[in-house]
Amino acid sequence: MAVSWCPWRLRKEGSCYAQGASDACCVVRFRSQRPGDRALHVLLMINADGGLVPPAVLLGGSMTTGVLTAPGPAGDRFIGNLGDFSASPLEFLTECVRTYGDVVMLGSHNVLLAHPDDIERVLVDRDSAFVKTTNKTLLHTRKQGFPGAMMNSDGEDWHAKRRRLSPAFTRRMVDAAALVAREEADRAFASWRGGQTVEPDHDLSVLTLRTITRLMFGDAIGQADIDTIGRLVAVIMDFSEQQIMLPQWFPTPRGLRLRRSLREIDELLTRIMRTAPADSPVLEVLRGSGLSDSDVQDELATLLLAGFETSKNAITWACHLLAGHPDVADRVAADPSYADRVVREVLRLYPTTWITSREAARDVEFQGHHVPAGTTVTVCQWVTHRDERWFAGAAEFRPDRWEDGLAARGAYFPFGLGPRACIGGAVATTEIVVAVSEICRRFRLHAAGDVTVRPALALQARGARFRLEARG
Ligand code: HEM
Repeated sequence: MAVSWCPWRLRKEGSCYAQGASDACCVVRFRSQRPGDRALHVLLMINADGGLVPPAVLLGGSMTTGVLTAPGPAGDRFIGNLGDFSASPLEFLTECVRTYGDVVMLGSHNVLLAHPDDIERVLVDRDSAFVKTTNKTLLHTRKQGFPGAMMNSDGEDWHAKRRRLSPAFTRRMVDAAALVAREEADRAFASWRGGQTVEPDHDLSVLTLRTITRLMFGDAIGQADIDTIGRLVAVIMDFSEQQIMLPQWFPTPRGLRLRRSLREIDELLTRIMRTAPADSPVLEVLRGSGLSDSDVQDELATLLLAGFETSKNAITWACHLLAGHPDVADRVAADPSYADRVVREVLRLYPTTWITSREAARDVEFQGHHVPAGTTVTVCQWVTHRDERWFAGAAEFRPDRWEDGLAARGAYFPFGLGPRACIGGAVATTEIVVAVSEICRRFRLHAAGDVTVRPALALQARGARFRLEARG
């Protein structure tokens, strides 16, 4: 069975990647980062027992055609800009655009695009020039992830899966999200008291996990199953965020935990699929779809993962911004409909999905720069959302900028754009808006901790703590 893995979590950045592993051995391939270098590949083989096979150096043909011509930081000969990127990705990418412009070469096979027109061209992709997943990576293998899910598919396969799932994500689901999120907000904030200082992470995790789980599986799902899902999701997130990814057969405690969790989540999801009443649109469309058990498990698992961490962090960022802008919080308390604009602005400043990538399926050109087929094309919500050219006073929290609801096309894309835009965008927005208005209705928030931005799988607000002041 073919398995691939990336030891430096760089599958999307592509300056150094690994692929071509099998159960028997793994192959790590390094590429020179200098444009114009011949594709010199160092192959490092590890056999299934974890032993190192003597390394071989091969001269390989480049996967790309022609040379990427955009300007960019030179970086290290072999690891390129990996060091700078890993140390502080948001600052590094922002600085790249400031220094080199809207088309930046991050590595010989990786380009960053910052101009809204180019972002729209890649994500809307009218010419079918970009693909989402050609490099089968960690979460795309059955042993380590969810290859059967729509999110991890491409081409006709993706199209069929999106068509199948879309009827579940209609107005009915959005209305249900408003109702469920309000009930869950009541439940989560019931124990909050004026004068208390809260670290909201746990309560917001419960709120968002219970909301997404009830939306996916209906109301029949019990607290015990929700707790189990929460525990399993935490293990999967933990594994996905580790800095060094080892192949799954490598017996690390984390890897073993992941394997056990994936088995458990498969069993749990299969049981829910077979026994839960069909009172949720997602179960309705998946039941009787003719999909295999494992494809259904993959779909459900990715929906839970995609819809949980991103929403939780968005609500945390909203709390952070509202604590710093009591006038905005007061306005939401007086007029809950204002929360729509607040949430738009929260997702502009703190887009919880902060980076997105595609791969060029053929040679393309951006602003006169040649981008060969095989290049990873990266767009960064954080960078473009904070660009003065598209948002006046870009660093400031100004919900009123959304009065007319508009932004330049391609300049604002917290949920992506085009055919592969987030299927749960309206559901997530509703959930976040409800949580924000329920918090503002009950409390004024005062910052009680230093918040730092942690760009992990989602953009996290580390250290968020608030003192609560009850509204009279
Ligand atoms: C604040 C919350 C959320 C944010 C910021 C977010 C962001 C995104 C983004 C940017 C994409 C597009 C990725 C790309 O173009 O490669 C995406 C795709 C996706 N999202 Fe979300 N999402 C959120 C919540 C949700 C929820 C609640 C669900 C499900 C209930 C969900 C399910 C998905 C799925 C299935 C895809 C893949 C779509 C496809 O490949 O066709 N997301 N999301």
